[in-house]
Amino acid sequence: MKSLNFFLAALMLITGQVIAAEQERWYSDEQVTQGEQLFRQNCSSCHGQNAEATPNWKQTDANGNYPPPPLNGSAHAWHHNLDLLRRTIRDGGAKLGGQMPGFEGSLSAAEIDSVIAFFQSKWSDEIYERWSGRFASSDLPSLTDSAVAPEPPVTRLLRQRIGNAKIDDVSETSVEDVWQVQIGNRYVYLLEGGKYALMGDLVNLENGRNLTEQSRRVSAVETISEFDDADLVIFAARGEPKATLNVFTDTSCPYCQKLHSEIDQLQEAGITVRYFPYARGGSRGPGYQHLRSVWCAEDRRQAMTDAKNKLFDDLPPGDCAAAEMVDRGYLVGNRIGISGTPALFKSNGEKIEGYRPYQELIPQILQ
Ligand code: HEC
Repeated sequence: MKSLNFFLAALMLITGQVIAAEQERWYSDEQVTQGEQLFRQNCSSCHGQNAEATPNWKQTDANGNYPPPPLNGSAHAWHHNLDLLRRTIRDGGAKLGGQMPGFEGSLSAAEIDSVIAFFQSKWSDEIYERWSGRFASSDLPSLTDSAVAPEPPVTRLLRQRIGNAKIDDVSETSVEDVWQVQIGNRYVYLLEGGKYALMGDLVNLENGRNLTEQSRRVSAVETISEFDDADLVIFAARGEPKATLNVFTDTSCPYCQKLHSEIDQLQEAGITVRYFPYARGGSRGPGYQHLRSVWCAEDRRQAMTDAKNKLFDDLPPGDCAAAEMVDRGYLVGNRIGISGTPALFKSNGEKIEGYRPYQELIPQILQ
C-alpha cells in the first residue's frame, strides 16, 4: 500500500498531473450494513433517514440552538477527523453547548464506527478524499483494526500513573518500539513496551524534523478547522489574499490591543486575521464579559476595535446565543496549549507566541 502511494506520488510528479485514483475507504461493507440499521434506530429521528437532514442547518431556532446538521457530506461533518466524530457521538454536543445526546453506554465503540461508516458511505469520493486528505493517513484505521481499535497495552503502566487524565491518542512513532501518547496538549513517549516514559520533543537529527512539533501542528489545525468564519471575528485581507492568521485574543490584554492597532498593516499585506476569543482566567477573567459583548454585536469588527480601545459604551449586552463562543474559545485554546494572549497560529498550525511588531510579524507569516 505504502509503495503504491509512493509510486502514484512519483508518477504525479513526473507527469505533472493529478491522477484521480479511487480511494480505498477505511470501513468494510459489513460495517455499512450494520451501521445503517443502528443509524435508523438511533440517529434518523434527528439526522434523517439517509443522514440528509436538516438542509438549513446553519440557521438557529428560536432558542438559539442549531438543528441537527446533515451528515451525508453536504455539511460540516467532513471537517472532523475520525476521532472527533467518534467523540461527538459518544459524548454528544453538551460539552460545546450543543443539543445532541451522547451515546456512550448505548452504542459500543465498534457500533459507533459502523454508524460513521454508514453516513460516510453517503459521501462522494471527492468529499471523502478531502476529508482523508485533511488528516494524516495515520489517523485512519486500517480495515483490520477499525472495528474495535482497542488502546494498545503499551499504555497500561502509564494509565496507572495518570489517574483520570484522559489519553487522547496513542500512536507508534517512526522510531522502533517508541510510542507517542497525547494527553491534552502534552506528549509523552513510551519506551520498552511502556515501562518507561519520557517527556520532551522527538527530533529526527537526519533531517532536523521535530516530530512532536508536527503532532502539535496537526492537532492545532484540526482543532481550528472545527470553526467557521461565522463563529469568529474576521478582518479580511485587502487585495490579493496571501495568508491567514488565527489569533486567540482577549480584549483586556495590552499586547492584544497593540496587535489590534496594527491590524490595518496586516490586512494591507494580504493577511486575513481570524479572531478567536480567549478570556485569560476564563469566565472570571477581566475580558470575559467584553468578549461576550463583542460576539453579540451586530458589527463584531467595530465592537472588537471599540473594546480594545476601551470604548465600552456602545457594546451590547453579552447575553445572546453567539456569546457561547467565548466559552468554546477558552476550551479550545486550552486544548491546543495556549498559555497567554495573543496566541497566533499560522494556517499550517505553527504557533507564534505573543505580540511582535507588524514589520517582524508579516514576513514570519508569509514565509
Ligand atoms: C435528538 C436529536 C439527535 C439525535 C438523536 C442525534 N443527533 Fe447528532 N446532532 C444533533 C444536533 C442538534 C447536532 C448539532 C450539534 C449539537 O447541537 O450538539 C448534532 C451533531 C452531530 C454531529 C456533528 C456534525 C457536524 O457537522 O459537526 C455528528 C457527527 C452527529 N450528530 C452524529 C449523530 C449520530 C451518528 C447519531 C446517532 C447515533 C446522532 N447524531 C443522533 C442532534 C441529534
